[in-house]
Amino acid sequence: MSLRLGDIAPDFTQESTEGPIHFHEYLGNSWGVLFSHPKDFTPVCTTELGEVAKLKSEFDKRDVKVIGLSVDPTDSHAEWIKDINETQNTQMNFPVIADADRKVSSLYDMVHPNAEDTMTVRSVFVIKPDKTVALTLTYPASTGRNFDEILRVIDSLQLTAKYNVATPVNWKDGEDVVIAPAIQDEAELKQKFPKGYRKIKPYLRMTPQPNK
Ligand code: BEZ
Repeated sequence: MSLRLGDIAPDFTQESTEGPIHFHEYLGNSWGVLFSHPKDFTPVCTTELGEVAKLKSEFDKRDVKVIGLSVDPTDSHAEWIKDINETQNTQMNFPVIADADRKVSSLYDMVHPNAEDTMTVRSVFVIKPDKTVALTLTYPASTGRNFDEILRVIDSLQLTAKYNVATPVNWKDGEDVVIAPAIQDEAELKQKFPKGYRKIKPYLRMTPQPNK
């Protein structure tokens, strides 16, 4: 069965480009992003991995550990990484799981046989420090992901984990947010949102981002 939001992200031990990964131990108390790639030496995957390497400081800033996966072995990954570094003008700086026996792909339901029977699809799992799944995304092999969007979602997840707010359509870090509808008490609103709020409808109240 596929993983759902709020489920514990399954633990595993698997080979990677940086040695064996014990997943939960590797994540520690950080947030995590686990993302799969259909195959080594493929063009879209090459651009994606290069981009994530370039964004490493953005993930670090948010205390997020990133980890890639494809179903090829470590020696293949090592050769491919040379190409990624050369063609994407970067240095790979995070581990890529070598899931040749598909142990992790099966645990995370990353092979969708009616789409591709020998490769993983492009899955993304964002995992909270308590190891629960906070977000899942599934893209087909033919469409590269937008990692700026993944960072944007992490900003929302981290903000809404701390404050009683939600983030509206197309929200970006620094913009106004929505007050959770459950909070109706005036005193609580004043205490939790000292910067004030605009009431557009009783259920639609905007407030400046609380941590800015
Ligand atoms: C790619 O990464 O370019 C790719 C992988 C599998 C199928 C199609 C494209």
